Amino acid sequence: MVKLQINGEERELDVAADTPLLWVVRDELGLTGTKFGCGMSLCGACTVHVDGVATRSCVTAVSDVEGSQVTTIEAIDGKAAKAVQTAWDKLDVVQCGYCQSGQVMSAVALLSENPKPSDDDIDAAMSGNVCRCATYVRIRAAIHEAAKLMEA
Ligand code: FES
Ligand code: FES
Repeated sequence: MVKLQINGEERELDVAADTPLLWVVRDELGLTGTKFGCGMSLCGACTVHVDGVATRSCVTAVSDVEGSQVTTIEAIDGKAAKAVQTAWDKLDVVQCGYCQSGQVMSAVALLSENPKPSDDDIDAAMSGNVCRCATYVRIRAAIHEAAKLMEA
């Protein structure tokens, strides 16, 4: 059994200790907002927060996050999350949407840590999140917009 603190709840799961967190989130808990893209830490589609840090759940064993707080796209909250959601909507960032929960999780983690990121900070924090629809310019603009909203 593995004990997981996820989205504010404690869950006990009958899974092997080395099961990737992504499969626990999606298949055991039904939290399908977190996506599978590459399974090799190359695309960012599977990004969740572990103690507030953007983490690739496809390469994280569920046992490695026992004792940590895991948050998925379904439960993000707080100033940075609200600002990102508003900015994403305002700038109409999303195209097909597949990569976007990962993008949002990385953006929220960045803004929680650095509320006024430069272009370089954004590029560094977001470089592991691939978007096949190439929404990168809008993502960068939306992160700046979210930073402005957080100041208000
Ligand atoms: S599915 Fe995890 S980084 Fe691509
Ligand atoms: S919006 Fe389509 S992959 Fe990013």
